[in-house]
Amino acid sequence: MHIDILTLFPEMFPGYLNESILKRAQAAGLLQIDLHNIRDYATGKHRITDEPPYGGGGGMVLKPEPIFTAVETLISTLQSPEDKRLGIGDWRLPVILLTPQGRPFTQRVAQELVQHPRLLLLCGRYEGVDERIRQHLVTDEISIGDFVLTGGELAAMVIVDAVARLIPGVLGAEDAAEDDSHATGLLEGPHYTRPETFRDWSVPEVLRSGHAANIARWRREEALRRTWQRRPDLLLTAELSEADRWFLGKLAAGER
Ligand code: ADE
Repeated sequence: MHIDILTLFPEMFPGYLNESILKRAQAAGLLQIDLHNIRDYATGKHRITDEPPYGGGGGMVLKPEPIFTAVETLISTLQSPEDKRLGIGDWRLPVILLTPQGRPFTQRVAQELVQHPRLLLLCGRYEGVDERIRQHLVTDEISIGDFVLTGGELAAMVIVDAVARLIPGVLGAEDAAEDDSHATGLLEGPHYTRPETFRDWSVPEVLRSGHAANIARWRREEALRRTWQRRPDLLLTAELSEADRWFLGKLAAGER
């Protein structure tokens, strides 16, 4: 998968993107991240990328020309036969603006984005971007939560991270992301590792039993319990079996 990031601050990225799992994914050729500085596409002696808003008011607004030029240059230089298709036909390169006004980012959105061979993330800054960028260039707008950051850079890193770990082969085992919190529509239950007893606290007996079916059932019930306690809203949309519903009934009745 190939992710292009358009930003005024490319130096913010390498520290996070070049460590751990994301570093390995890039080394293995599973993920390519290209950073593009919006300023490189601005013209004039001062390469201005932002101006005060028409009509007055505070803050600065990102100008349309450098961002249109950057995106259009990128699309025109896409090289492989696969890439060449991206600008035409019914499959378009997703151009995603990071903004607190976007649709909320969730695990489901990460699963949707990982289906694309290539993505372009556009980091907003200051008061926002010229509306014509939204109307005529951007194909999607995403927010990572109901709070306002100083720019879209952290949001872009959040998206790269959440999407990259869903690329097949990026996590050790093929199915390593399948039981994650949210991937199943539920929160994950508790995990334990050695030692068997730490201070006075022991690992639950069932996890040491070696009985695979009992362990699977315990994990499912603990995921249901945790979700019921912390995020009951998720239970409205999670896929639940008869056994799950029966267990939740017991929980609600205070029997478990
Ligand atoms: N830029 C500023 N705040 C943001 C948010 N919450 N999500 C995405 N991009 C942003």
